[in-house]
Amino acid sequence: MKKRVFLSLAALVFCATAPLAVYAQQGKKAAVVYYSLSGSTDKVARKIADVTGAVLIRIETSEPYDTKDMNKLRDYVKNQQNTKKWPALKPISINLANFDTVFLGSPVWFAGIACPMVTFLNQTDFKGKKVVTFGTKGGGEGNFFSDFKKYVKNGTVENGIVFTGSDKDLDKKVTDWVKKVKL
Ligand SMILES: Cc1cc2nc3c(=O)[nH]c(=O)nc-3n(C[C@H](O)[C@H](O)[C@H](O)COP(=O)(O)O)c2cc1C
Repeated sequence: MKKRVFLSLAALVFCATAPLAVYAQQGKKAAVVYYSLSGSTDKVARKIADVTGAVLIRIETSEPYDTKDMNKLRDYVKNQQNTKKWPALKPISINLANFDTVFLGSPVWFAGIACPMVTFLNQTDFKGKKVVTFGTKGGGEGNFFSDFKKYVKNGTVENGIVFTGSDKDLDKKVTDWVKKVKL
């Protein structure tokens, strides 16, 4: 009886950690690099890291966006996009040479990727990397994936998925999706 309980427990632990174990056996490493203003993309990024064992790196702007007035924020962001004056970032300590796969995540901003993600992509070379893109949205994703393709230098870009930030089943949807991604 004790043996049976032990075996069931062992099977459970194996199932829970299987994606990570398989991934580790392949000897590959992944990073999740993402921007999130209000927390939804952060939630998705953390889940991806949970399931894959990837290293989590959050991009932050040197000057925080003022989110008190959403209309003003929208005008401010629109102006950054129109003028291509992308915001400066806090220093990030990441050596991409350590990773085979990079998950890149961003909220959808005006049917494209968020401005801080553009800054990051402008200063990064993805040569030899597999890049998997993901995001969160309120309504529609527009040019989100083509924006990533436009700004990612040299890597092989795979369109992932854009989740709805307010989705109640977000955790499960992210888990189901990321388990299918070939790392
Ligand atoms: C400046 C701005 C522009 C946005 N533009 C869009 C858009 O074009 N399409 C959309 O579906 N959602 C849009 N949203 C909503 C966000 O994409 C959505 O709330 C997202 O889940 C936020 O992610 P975060 O919590 O990680 O910042 C916009 C939000 C902001 C702040």
